[in-house]
Amino acid sequence: MRLDKFLSHTGFGTRKEVKKLVRNGWVTINGEVCTKDDIKIDEEKDIIMVNDEVVSYKKFVYLMMNKPAGYVSATEDFYDPTVMDLLTKYEGKDLFPCGRLDKDTEGLLLLTNDGQLAHQLLSPKHHVEKEYYVELDHPFDLKYLPLIEQGIRLNEEEVCAPAKITNISKKHLHLILTEGKFHQVKRMMIAAENEVTYLKRLRMGTVWLDDSLGLGEYRELTKEELESLQ
Ligand code: URA
Repeated sequence: MRLDKFLSHTGFGTRKEVKKLVRNGWVTINGEVCTKDDIKIDEEKDIIMVNDEVVSYKKFVYLMMNKPAGYVSATEDFYDPTVMDLLTKYEGKDLFPCGRLDKDTEGLLLLTNDGQLAHQLLSPKHHVEKEYYVELDHPFDLKYLPLIEQGIRLNEEEVCAPAKITNISKKHLHLILTEGKFHQVKRMMIAAENEVTYLKRLRMGTVWLDDSLGLGEYRELTKEELESLQ
């Protein structure tokens, strides 16, 4: 792989930024300073260092993002900005959002290039819980609680899997789903004669949104978070 591509893939910036790093003499290959950014390296064998720090090549990247409203959860969109536009690193890593949040939904979005883990998290067969904080137009009518717990009907064709509701207080609640139908939370609340006014995902499986991340910020999953998901 070319050195500039390698450095960009390992999170040192865009191609343009890493070329500058290399040309300014910050990078060594097997102990020798290298100022040629297009040189070919063997990412499995060569020891690449940036400013005395060894760069390890990770094929897979796992990020958590605090998604802001106004961005679509896709790699490309004709009209709207996508969550990929918020990433300033990881160019060329082929990341994609793991599942979708609506454009106006905020909160935990995982981004990865590990298709197998994404499938494991999203397939309804695996029953991975997704927990949402939901604000409602008016107080939740408790007569719908058992219906949601048993699996509420959305329309003639669609019935939801059993879901859990916790932390009910007047116009907010937490809703825990194990599947991801289109606009599911919003449609479940319509089925319960209410309307979602604000929606934020808090958790996927064992991983909670890091509340130190501001809207639009992201970080790599820790080793513990990743292991618990896997
Ligand atoms: N359910 C919704 O209605 N919207 C989301 O973004 C996620 C779940």
